Parts: sequence; C-alpha cells; structure tokens
Amino acid sequence: MALSTGLSKIRVAVFISGTGSNLKSLIKFSKTNKSPISIKFVVSNNYKAKGLNYAKKYKIKKKILNFKNKNLCESELLYILKINNIKMICLAGFMKILSKNFIKRFKGKILNIHPSLLPKYKGLNTHERVLKNNEKYSGCTVHFVNSRLDSGKIILQKKVKILKNETRISLAKKILVQEHRLYPRAILKVFNL
Ligand code: GRF
Repeated sequence: MALSTGLSKIRVAVFISGTGSNLKSLIKFSKTNKSPISIKFVVSNNYKAKGLNYAKKYKIKKKILNFKNKNLCESELLYILKINNIKMICLAGFMKILSKNFIKRFKGKILNIHPSLLPKYKGLNTHERVLKNNEKYSGCTVHFVNSRLDSGKIILQKKVKILKNETRISLAKKILVQEHRLYPRAILKVFNL
C-alpha cells in the first residue's frame, strides 16, 4: 500500500452493519504495539448495529448514515473522513455497496473481509451455498475493494474444513473465529510487517 506508517499510526475508519465482532478484533489489534493502524472512526448504515457499542466503549467517533440516498450519504461521508484525516477503510460486515466514485477516492486503501474462499462464493448467503454444493472446505478472505463485488486483489485467506454434520450456523461460527485472526494479519501484510 502506498502509505507510510512512519512514526504515527495510519488513521482508519471501520464500516459495519451488524454485530461488529470483526470491529472488536480490529480495535484490540490496533491497540497493540505492532499495529500500524489506529481506529479513529466507525461508520454504520444501521443505527441498530450492535457493533456501534464498541465505538462507545472505546470512545471512537462514529457516524450513522442510512444510505437511502447513496450519493448524498457518500458525499457527506467523504467530507467527514477527510476532516478526520482518515487514510484507510476496513469494511467489516458492511452490507452496503460503495459507489465506483467513492472507491476511486480511496483507491487501494479499502479492505474487506468476506466469509468464503474467494473467488468462490461472492455475495450473500455464502455458507448456505457452500453447504448445498457439498464443498469440503470453506474459509475467509481479506481483499482490496475494487468496483466489482468481492473481486479485488486477495491479501490473505484462511481455509477451514467442513465437517459431516456442519450447519450454516456452525460453519459461520467457525469461520468468524478465523476472520478475527485473519483481518489483523492481512493488515500487517499490507504494510509489509
Ligand atoms: C462476517 O462474517 C463478515 O465476513 C461478513 O459479515 C460478518 C460480519 O460479522 N461480511 P461481524 O459484524 O464482524 O460480527
């Protein structure tokens, strides 16, 4: 990534829509000495997102935008990110698709985590589809965001084995545990650390 960590940490915004367990793991990671990032902002399209509690708990600024008028919300967001000097974005269970224009403004500086072994199973309901196809393995992927859904350059992946009686719930749980480990590792990799 064309970003130098220098002495100070890179100011990051995390975008969420739900539980925010990846946000929590990223916050914990960001507080370690080895982390090149510091989480300075949380964005949600959902005011009911449970993950917003982590913003409160860790005293991180937050913004909730409903994205009903995407253009307007993204313009406001770009302004907020700019005045807060945010240099990088981590999508973590964020359920809205960002526009080409928005992605261009943060080119190469938006990361996402997806609960499948991309390029397989892009989009929603990954675990159901994986189980329906009797896959032997699934996993999670951290990748750069480009204008095509779940299609940007892959940074890191973690594979998990699917057991005989695996359900959507058990698989999601198992993969989520790996997501929490993979996202920080992917960030270290992006910064060649
Ligand atoms: C994760 O499985 C992530 O990969 C997917 O949505 C889920 C979000 O979980 N995109 P959380 O909100 O981080 O707990």
